[in-house]
Amino acid sequence: DVRPNDAAAEQTVHDPIGYLSPKLLEGHVAFITGGGSGINLGIAKAFARCGADVAICGRTESKLAAAAEEIAALGAKVAYRAADVRDPEALQASVDHAASELGDVSIAVAGAAGNFFARAEEMSANAFATVVNIDLLGAYHTARAAFPYLQRTKGSILFISAGQAYKANKFQAHVGAAKAGIEMLMKDLALEWGPHGIRSNSLVPGPVNGTEGMSRLAGPTGKDAWNKAVPLGRWADAEELGAMAAVLSGPLGAYVTGSQYHVDGGSGLTSNPA
Ligand code: HXC
Repeated sequence: DVRPNDAAAEQTVHDPIGYLSPKLLEGHVAFITGGGSGINLGIAKAFARCGADVAICGRTESKLAAAAEEIAALGAKVAYRAADVRDPEALQASVDHAASELGDVSIAVAGAAGNFFARAEEMSANAFATVVNIDLLGAYHTARAAFPYLQRTKGSILFISAGQAYKANKFQAHVGAAKAGIEMLMKDLALEWGPHGIRSNSLVPGPVNGTEGMSRLAGPTGKDAWNKAVPLGRWADAEELGAMAAVLSGPLGAYVTGSQYHVDGGSGLTSNPA
């Protein structure tokens, strides 16, 4: 019984960033929240390989230090200062530090997120607020802190969304509300900041290998269920998100703003891919 998507699963693109020019983001400085791990570290490494210098931000200094070494090994100048995206002053200090070390930030990535499974009627008010504060308000604080730099550089901001913004998921009401908010924030900023030359887009991942999010979500749901929900029959590698982020954030994306990019193997298309 060979399911059609077992064949599709063979078609992984190895080293997608290898197809991009190492000069694609030359002269750019990226600031990435949640850059210490997962999708956002994949984006940081993609940017580094495309010639950008990269600043990462997260709550845990030791995690940032380890990630910074990985990014620096790819030839980028790297900066980091720990901050919680829920704290606008600390976040501003992290962006300012990045700019003082590397130069004006021209690419901001709002990637930091929090997630857990919880029934809507059982989670505490603080539990719901925590995810909205990290995901949605954190994304706003990131955009706000980067704004003066993005205005000077005519830069861009990329929001990391999720399929939860589009389709209902059990026990993800807090995440769905936050991520749907991010999508509208992305569009509103594209409208307001377009005249400043600032672009604003979102990347919508499906399941990605090796991420904390999927270790949290695939546990309760089961990996098989997730595989069946992806028409292409496999999870993404973080590099595949990184490659698309590099395309959108640099000169190849110069006329792209207010857009959502689903890099999800088609998992957002339907609830019944079988
Ligand atoms: C119910 C929970 C809970 C759980 C925490 N809470 N975990 N409630 N079920 N499993 C409640 C707590 O009881 C508390 O409420 C409130 O949430 C805040 O919890 P804290 O632990 O104090 O918060 P904090 O230390 O700030 O940690 C934030 C966090 C944590 C979101 C709860 O999980 C975290 O740091 N996550 C970051 C990493 C992460 O989640 N990455 C995955 C992102 S993936 P009370 O009322 O008790 O005070 C993603 C999209 C995935 O976002 C998409 C895949 C397709």
